[in-house]
Amino acid sequence: MHIISASQFSLSQLGGLFNRADFFKEQLAAGRGRQLAELHRGRQVCTIFYQPSTRTRLSFETAALKLGFGVVSTENALESSSSSKGESLEDTIRTLNGYGYSAIVIRHNQQGAAKRAAAVSQVPIINAGDGKGEHPTQALYDAYTIYKNLGRLDNLRIVMGGDLKYGRTVRSLSQLLAKYKDNQVTFVSLPEFSLGADIKGALSRVGLKFKETAALRAAVSKADVVYWTRLQTEHLGDDETKNSGFRIDMSIVKSMPKHAIIMHPLPRVDEISTDVDKDPRAKYFEQAANGLYVRMALLDQVASGKL
Ligand code: NCD
Repeated sequence: MHIISASQFSLSQLGGLFNRADFFKEQLAAGRGRQLAELHRGRQVCTIFYQPSTRTRLSFETAALKLGFGVVSTENALESSSSSKGESLEDTIRTLNGYGYSAIVIRHNQQGAAKRAAAVSQVPIINAGDGKGEHPTQALYDAYTIYKNLGRLDNLRIVMGGDLKYGRTVRSLSQLLAKYKDNQVTFVSLPEFSLGADIKGALSRVGLKFKETAALRAAVSKADVVYWTRLQTEHLGDDETKNSGFRIDMSIVKSMPKHAIIMHPLPRVDEISTDVDKDPRAKYFEQAANGLYVRMALLDQVASGKL
């Protein structure tokens, strides 16, 4: 099964993934790394990245290695693969299909690229970010982090903000949260960085309650989760403002309920001030660490044909 969009998961698949992530976390903490490394010995995963990445590529590759997979990687595929010679994505994927991988993890600069890859691939394709489309595996560990901290994924008030126009993580996470009952989402951004009409349409169709505002302090004062994102400056046109208009600092954090958690997919630039890191509600580095366990669960289930 290809992993293309956060919308594709059923609640039972999500529960299965989160249980498996718990299992891998426990096994690693108990020092059973050697046993885990037997699980997929003799298999290989390919990671092909056409855009920069720190966490996504390194956590996928680490997850694969901890499960015993060998890893074959292209980290700068736009320049170092035959894409620079004019080869189509489809031909690259057809070629990789001949090498016997258990999964191909792809990040690409074009929205829809993972879907195009999947259309010509017998090997499971995992979307590690496609332009300003989606980032479904990020949404998986975002949801896992919420569940671990708040004990539920339903009946939540979630504030998501920053650059909702070019960022892809909110586009995926909002669709995942829409699967659970009684969630209320508030999108906070300047009007010029608001969430795409395609995702808003998808959320309305599945019945998610959401609103859009620029009133940050009022929104966070009732939030269970505040999920912030950076301005995607590399995608901005020359005529677009280079300021997302908001910053999460201690004055904003003080307006949040005591039980609320602060999340960010990272990299953080300056949209969350570093003094917020000391607040016990700041969970973004814990969130990043969870990426390893959830990606182990995902690779394990994809390679075992359980997803
Ligand atoms: C995100 C991405 O690439 O979409 N990074 C990540 O994978 N954690 C967020 C971003 O780059 O802003």
